[in-house]
Amino acid sequence: GAPVEADISNLKPGEMMVVPWRGKPVWIVNRTDAMLEDVVKADPELADPHTLNPFSMPLPEYCNNEYRSRADHKNILVLVGICTHLGCSPSPRFSPGPQPNLPSDWPGGWLCPCHGSTFDLAGRVFKNKPAPQNLDVPRYMFVNATTLVIG
Ligand code: FES
Repeated sequence: GAPVEADISNLKPGEMMVVPWRGKPVWIVNRTDAMLEDVVKADPELADPHTLNPFSMPLPEYCNNEYRSRADHKNILVLVGICTHLGCSPSPRFSPGPQPNLPSDWPGGWLCPCHGSTFDLAGRVFKNKPAPQNLDVPRYMFVNATTLVIG
């Protein structure tokens, strides 16, 4: 499939947008600094914090870091929005804290409606959930400060 371009100039901190790529939804999230702190806090609760599972799609080398994003735009997260369990699309639950179907110490992330897998604000699956792997990070690059190309 061809790469797609995304204009993120209207994507406010704490918001997510969806762009189709190769027939899949790709999420682009403008994470706040507080959300990045929650990524660090989630580490001990995750099944595979460094995405070492051999069945995972390898991270782009420039995203192989704590935030799973490009270092020069570390707040911007790009993920394939397809659950690695059976392919449902998880829904954003960005607010930390108690919410329906989530633990009281929920740090923010996504909840898959199909079988309850949860993912942190870097798309990494929490422990003891049906999803076997973290969400995929596609290749992407910035062509200017507010335009990125995915694929
Ligand atoms: Fe997401 Fe099963 S498809 S938990």
